Amino acid sequence: MYRTHNCGALSLSELNQSVLLSGWVQKIRNKGFIIWVDLRDRYGITQLVFDAERTPEEVFTAAQALGREFVIQIKGTVIERESKNPNRATGEIEVLVEDLTLLNASKTPPFTIADETDGGEELRMNYRYLDIRRDPVKEKLIFRSKVTMAVRNYLSEAQFIEVETPYLIKSTPEGARDFVVPSRMNEGQFYALPQSPQTFKQLLMVGGLDKYFQIVKCFRDEDLRADRQPEFTQIDCEMAFVNQEDIIQQFEGLTRHLLKEIKGIETGPFPRMSYEEAIKTYGNDKPDIRFGMTFKELNALAQGKGFGVFDSQELVVGIAVPGAAKMSRKEIDGWIDWVKRPQIGAKGLVYVKCNADGSYKSSVDKFFSQEILADWARFCEAERGDLLLILSGEATTTRTQLSALRMELASHLGLRNPEVFAPLWITDFPLLEWDEETQRYHAMHHPFTAPKPEDLVLLKENPSAVKANAYDLVLNGNEIGGGSIRIHDQALQAQLFDLLGFSKEEAEAQFGFLMNAFQYGAPPHGGIAFGLDRLVTILGGEETIRDFIAFPKNNAGRDVMIDAPAPLHPEQLEELALKSIAKPKP
Ligand code: AMO
Repeated sequence: MYRTHNCGALSLSELNQSVLLSGWVQKIRNKGFIIWVDLRDRYGITQLVFDAERTPEEVFTAAQALGREFVIQIKGTVIERESKNPNRATGEIEVLVEDLTLLNASKTPPFTIADETDGGEELRMNYRYLDIRRDPVKEKLIFRSKVTMAVRNYLSEAQFIEVETPYLIKSTPEGARDFVVPSRMNEGQFYALPQSPQTFKQLLMVGGLDKYFQIVKCFRDEDLRADRQPEFTQIDCEMAFVNQEDIIQQFEGLTRHLLKEIKGIETGPFPRMSYEEAIKTYGNDKPDIRFGMTFKELNALAQGKGFGVFDSQELVVGIAVPGAAKMSRKEIDGWIDWVKRPQIGAKGLVYVKCNADGSYKSSVDKFFSQEILADWARFCEAERGDLLLILSGEATTTRTQLSALRMELASHLGLRNPEVFAPLWITDFPLLEWDEETQRYHAMHHPFTAPKPEDLVLLKENPSAVKANAYDLVLNGNEIGGGSIRIHDQALQAQLFDLLGFSKEEAEAQFGFLMNAFQYGAPPHGGIAFGLDRLVTILGGEETIRDFIAFPKNNAGRDVMIDAPAPLHPEQLEELALKSIAKPKP
């Protein structure tokens, strides 16, 4: 037996009991005649005392040889501490050691295993198993497990069946590049790792399973950001005999349950916003609605007054920044420089200070009278003391720039409180997007998404105007889920593939299995997938999904600890019929 208790369990209720504990040496304080050791495991820290007078001599000697992160087992008696530590669950007691077994020694760790560590990101990633011993990392993994469990419980309670779908599949188009796996038994042929189980979950509906879910790894070879990993986890769901409203209700229910269960927060019905409204009022399709600063289009009030910068532009759009009229000239210049950075790419930024005395001070005073500035302020719902910030240019670009500025300002002003949760459904997405580069339409969500029935007539003459039966769930400015009602009619699916530029043969080769299935009584169906990593991260009040993944990849898509990806042995390449790659480069 290794332990009778864990290192977070003991208190005065176990006074004078004999106990066995096992764990890692966190800290040693050697006073010569007395040695204190903090013993740590997953559950907490317990203070051990080795006392030259009361601990057997050979045990005391052995204790002198201990080092940080040694794994030990001790036998001892729970005694009351003289100086109690109210910040620690076990802070009222210590264990007077009678016996010590060294279970394993440890090299000196390359960084301190403590909440505030001296190890940099790269070093900690190289020794992720040591990083996981630290509370902030460990707690995030425990938190993730708790969320995952709550999801499973909720969905099984609601009669969903968890089904595993294959990882070695054929490429499914979801907008990113595939990771591919060569097949040894089928020379020159490749599997693709799923970007999502999309087609399989639809086939499960044809199979009559009715309500499916899976907590599943997905793989996408795309550029990485704080909210993206090449392999990530979805809570993937699909239901038969449902419309959009049914899905929204069901998964709003799940999200509400998680907010209650995990954060103790009660939420009412989630607001909904059309894609178009989101773009117009927030400049993007995943608005953070925890704060205002909504977009106000100023074309009518600001153009034709002789200010050339505004006059020639497609869009003049502003936001009212609360309480920011007090910003100094230098601070405002800082924001002007911020929007001019290449990452944002704006040419300039016009400001109007709405002064406390009712006057206005603006960078375009020369062109606009106080009355006109007052009109803008009124239209932008700016109060005295607020600051109007205005951008102009091509509509899409300008909205993107102002949206970035809005988010940055909100962070700066402390308006993005991680303990406030603002969920939002975005609906009425366009079905298709025109891509200038390839001169063809792309599916905005994916090619299996159903058009809104009332828009079917537009599919031929005006595909751009067709709206989809698709929806995203946004939480605090992050897209945490997305889904759609699917096409379940073979002819309509064929028409969509045609619109997306697939020839009959290509569609048959890539999706023949799905089109075939649709000929055998496919029920109406639809679903959604949540990004579990993102959901957990936001519920945890953070922004970087890497922190909630046990063994994440870095920004170059590498696992620095196992050093992957890596070259293969020439023999392996040969076996996989990839010999040409094995040839050394000239
Ligand atoms: P979608 O592509 O919108 O939909 O993905 C669903 C959710 O997965 C998360 N996500 C990611 N998380 C981390 N890293 C990534 N690289 C990454 N990519 C996506 C997002 C996103 O909202 N098959 C459809 C779902 C459906 O139609 O039912 C799909 O995969 O939170």
